Amino acid sequence: MATLDDSVLHHELDRVLIDQDTIRERVKQLGRQLAADYGDRHPVFVGVLTGAFIFMADLVRATPIPLDIEFMAVSSYGSATHTSGVVRILKDLEQPIEGRDVVIVEDIIDSGLTLQYLLDVLKRRNPRSVSVVALFNKVKAERGNLPVDYVGFDIPDEFVVGYGLDAGRRFRNLPYVAVYSKR
Ligand code: IMP
Ligand code: MG
Repeated sequence: MATLDDSVLHHELDRVLIDQDTIRERVKQLGRQLAADYGDRHPVFVGVLTGAFIFMADLVRATPIPLDIEFMAVSSYGSATHTSGVVRILKDLEQPIEGRDVVIVEDIIDSGLTLQYLLDVLKRRNPRSVSVVALFNKVKAERGNLPVDYVGFDIPDEFVVGYGLDAGRRFRNLPYVAVYSKR
């Protein structure tokens, strides 16, 4: 049986960018920070499926305050590596967020278009506040100002997989984050 750590699979991965322990420590810090900032405000954490599912699971366990867990699924039109900014809601929240403190939990911000759309949609529902936590933020020259309140790691503008992130639906279960290469 071929496991994920077999070199067979690693032919498709260029290098490990952030290892498991480093991710774990940073997620713990983010959780502590969120707990300190939100205290007893009972925020609604909104995970963006599918990529954020592992980050969400680890982050909420690192955030020891009362909070609600929700998920949204969106699909963005465009090619595999470029989003167009036109986004469709595939799965919506299960509760109203009017008057609530909302924390959007994103896996990675690339162009920022998905996040911009989500912010617009959720703000129209009159929450008390909306903040964004993204585990990975691609540093790009051309991107304008996006309100990302909490960032796990700034990373180079390369395609990465693992810890929830996929390439063609694969590699989400890698416990670390690696740079994908098509060779
Ligand atoms: P954006 O709208 O361009 O910011 O794209 C955001 C979404 O595209 C993320 O939530 C991911 O699902 C996906 N994405 C962007 N960059 C990567 C990457 O390097 N690896 C895997 N998925 C990515
Ligand atoms: Mg994706």
